[in-house]
Amino acid sequence: MSIFRDHLLAGRTAFVTGGGSGIGQRMAERFAEHGACVMLVGRNQEKLDAAASAIRGRGGVAATRAADVRDYGAIAAAVKSARDQFGEIDILLCAAAGNFPAPVLGMSANGFKAVIDIDLLGTFNACRAAYEHLRKPGASVLAISASFAFQPAALQSHVGAAKAGVDNLIKTLAIEWGADGVRCNSICPGPTDDTEGMRRLAPTEEARQRTARSVPLGRLGTKDELADLALFLCSDAAGYITGAVYVCDGGMSLCRSSFALRAVE
Ligand code: COA
Repeated sequence: MSIFRDHLLAGRTAFVTGGGSGIGQRMAERFAEHGACVMLVGRNQEKLDAAASAIRGRGGVAATRAADVRDYGAIAAAVKSARDQFGEIDILLCAAAGNFPAPVLGMSANGFKAVIDIDLLGTFNACRAAYEHLRKPGASVLAISASFAFQPAALQSHVGAAKAGVDNLIKTLAIEWGADGVRCNSICPGPTDDTEGMRRLAPTEEARQRTARSVPLGRLGTKDELADLALFLCSDAAGYITGAVYVCDGGMSLCRSSFALRAVE
């Protein structure tokens, strides 16, 4: 349930990578609730179809396109499909991500590269491919980063490096695209309940509880809280905010990461 009541995105089009599940899906739902037409992009057509029909079932407008963010041609084709169906793009949400917990010595170069390619190259690909149809005042780009970008944690070298790159890319785009009126921001979620990332990083109930205890607010975050933040950042209410990295982690990054503790116990 959103804290917002009005249709903040009426008449807009949102292109969402990673829109078939998790945080990207919930943000896409929120955009649709607020009047945006959403194009959901991801690797798994079944998940995309389920996410789109849930949106349509609640009166929203959604289309899907299966594409891997690592494949520039596939993402460019998805952008074209969104434009053909809904018109010019107003919001680009880069939420596609990959993760597995592993120490540096426990992953191959290809394992490291897989996450860099999905998170960092995938964000670049979506931004680069969408810009032609996004380039106008009022448009915005939002990337999903992670607090590992600025607070390194054991078992997360690939994600931390990728997300630090994402934040830097977004800040660079804020500078380069500001003259066109396009705002570029990122969100760093903390431990968020009911996400694939959380299931991978805290796979047991005991680990989940320990993580919640390590957060100053004493609980895990919710996808709805992240969706409300995304809605704000992509709406006109955030019209003068660009190049910002919004941390939404219950204060966890102020303390020592429980994920880091896990590796040295
Ligand atoms: N530990 C160490 N290495 C691992 C691993 C693990 N738990 N899981 C995958 N890898 C390695 C693989 O061994 C492979 O390296 P290799 O070729 O040298 O053996 C490499 O990562 C790529 O794996 P593959 O499964 O072929 O890649 P993929 O592109 O199909 O999947 C992942 C990408 C690995 C990131 C996969 O976890 C994924 O698709 N994740 C998407 C969902 C997700 O992670 N959501 C959470 C977001 S926070």
